[in-house]
Formats: sequence, structure tokens, C-alpha cells
Amino acid sequence: MAPAAISEIKVGHIDDVQELKKSKTSQIPERFIRDRTERPNLDYSCTNIPVVDLSKLFQGSKDEFCSEILNLMTSCKEWGFFQVINHGIDLELLERIEKVAMEFFMMPLEEKQKYPMIPGTVQGYGQAFVFSEDQKLDWCNMFALGLEPHCVRNPKLWPTKPSDFCETVEIYSSEIRKLCKNLLKYIAITLSLNEDIFEEMFGVAVQAVRMNYYPACPRPDLVLGLSPHSDGSALTVLQQGKGSSIGLQILKDDKWIPVQPIPNALVINIGDTIEVLTNGRYKSVEHRAVTHKEKDRLSIVTFYAPSYEIELGPIPELVDDKNPCKYRRYNHGEYSKHYVTNKLQGKKTLEFAKINN
Ligand code: OGA
Ligand code: NI
Repeated sequence: MAPAAISEIKVGHIDDVQELKKSKTSQIPERFIRDRTERPNLDYSCTNIPVVDLSKLFQGSKDEFCSEILNLMTSCKEWGFFQVINHGIDLELLERIEKVAMEFFMMPLEEKQKYPMIPGTVQGYGQAFVFSEDQKLDWCNMFALGLEPHCVRNPKLWPTKPSDFCETVEIYSSEIRKLCKNLLKYIAITLSLNEDIFEEMFGVAVQAVRMNYYPACPRPDLVLGLSPHSDGSALTVLQQGKGSSIGLQILKDDKWIPVQPIPNALVINIGDTIEVLTNGRYKSVEHRAVTHKEKDRLSIVTFYAPSYEIELGPIPELVDDKNPCKYRRYNHGEYSKHYVTNKLQGKKTLEFAKINN
């Protein structure tokens, strides 16, 4: 059967989780209750994922640079997730973006609904990746915007309130963009590749931001904040709200591990594009978010990806007899479309590119 046209998608009623929380009901609507096998372990204990000190890469001595490159390499290879400190982004800017995001989510529902995320699309306010009436819902409100290049922007979805929202998003995004470019440069170095290889290959990179707001949930043991998935990007930069509960979990060695926020650090993860380009040497790691009984949580997530026009596949230098080619070549725009028109299901979307030997 041909896939349903976007306009035919019937998603049924989607409760707004902040409104559910306000209604003080302890009853969780059926659509949020996960099947037993999907329910989370609520381990909020500390786990330390690797930390990369970017100041040692930006301005360290030669020895510091080399040892931090090694650290970055192991972080990418063994974890796919790490936190960066001394990243050079003004801490006041990190606070400002959190402030406007919180102000946005705290507005009345009618105001937020002026920027609706139409089912089947991923920009605006609502829940992304819902494609049917019987699909389980995430305990999360999202607000997402395409940023770069400008042709991905939908100006109708840029909010007029709070008044400094758009300006703050612009400044924040251009800083995060620089960070992504730098990270890709260093990641290329860890692979013994030309440091500009990703930059040259990506064209004008596509960048989007998604703000996720996870209200406290009376039964965090039954729901998920965000379904397990890998990111379709090349790199993702995630800022965890100050004072938020722990909520991000990554799948490592078949166990869900909570990521302990470090104040002022940013969480970086490898996305599907880098997995393909590195022929699986660096993997995009499956992750999810869980909720908390008393505390709300905010995250601000930037996705950085190649231009839609580019064709990509494993970089030839990373393919040899010992590492046979694991992914086919494809057009990144097609992959993006595939990604946003399927529900989040672990790493299933990347099967699009896998060569089954
Ligand atoms: C995402 C994501 C995790 C979080 O938005 O892709 O993985 O902690 N978010 O909000
Ligand atoms: Ni993600």
C-alpha cells in the first residue's frame, strides 16, 4: 500500500501534558501508558558519561591537545555521548535561552497553539512523530523550529511572545553552529581525516532547534518522556535546564544509563549521519527521556546535519577489508524525510541505509 499522504494522517486527540498536570488528575490517560516491556527503570543515580574539555582543544598545549583528542576519540567510539565543558559559549546566553524557553512553555495553551505542529510535521508546538491513533504518546511538550538555511524556516511558527524569544534563538543558534563546526573538525582529526572534510562535504548545514518540556508525572514508572531513538542529525547538542530533574538516558551495553547533568556543560551526541560516514566506527546511540514524579524538566536540543542535497555514504578511507562497507549511499534529504515520517523506534530508521550482509 502506498504510504498515507501527510494530510490523511489521523492521530486522534493528543492531550497536552502540561494541561494534564494542571488538572491535578493522578489518572494517566491510557495513550500514555506504555506496554510493560517499554516502561522505564527510574534510576536517577549518577552516571558519568565522558567529559571533553574543549579549552584543551581550542588553546591547550600540544600535549593537552593530543590527550584531549584521544579522549574525544574514545568518547565517540565507546559512548557516542559526551559532555563538553569550557565550550566558549557565554553562560549568560545559555541562561537566556532557558529563560525564553521556559517563558514560552509557561504561556497559556491558547497562545502556544497559535504555532501548531501539524501531524506529520516537526516544527511548531505539540508532539512530533505521532502517526496513528493507537500510537503511544510521550509525556512531553515540544516546540521546534527549523533555522538554517533560511529556506527551512516557517516564519508563521516564530512566536511573538516572549518578546525576546526570536532574537535569543538566533544568537544561541549561531553560537551552537560554531560549536558544531568545531566539533566536527576535531572529530575528523580523531579519525585521521582532513579536518575540513565534514564542513566541505555538508554544504550549508541544516540546523534545527527543539525545546522539550517534560512536566512532572504522577506515574513516571508508566510513561516515557521521549521514546527511544537515535538522532537523524550528524551531531546533536543538548542543553539540560538548570535545576531540572535527571531525565536523559542512553542505551549502553543493553542497559539504560541516566546522564547526570554537569552545570554549564552541553551534552553532545553522534547522530545517524556520522555513523554512516564513519562506516559505523562512531555509532549514533539510542537514547530516551524519562519523567520525574515531582520535578519538571527542560531540554534545548540542536540538530546539525548536512544540506538536504548531498549524497552520502561511508568515507572511503574508513572502508577496507577489515571494515567492509556497512551502509549504502543515499541522498540526505531523502533520509531526513524518512526520519520525520516514521515514529521514533530505537535505531530502526537507520535500516534505511544499512547493507544487510
Ligand atoms: C531529542 C532528545 C532528550 C532530552 O530531542 O532528540 O533526545 O533529554 N532529547 O530531552
Ligand atoms: Ni535525541
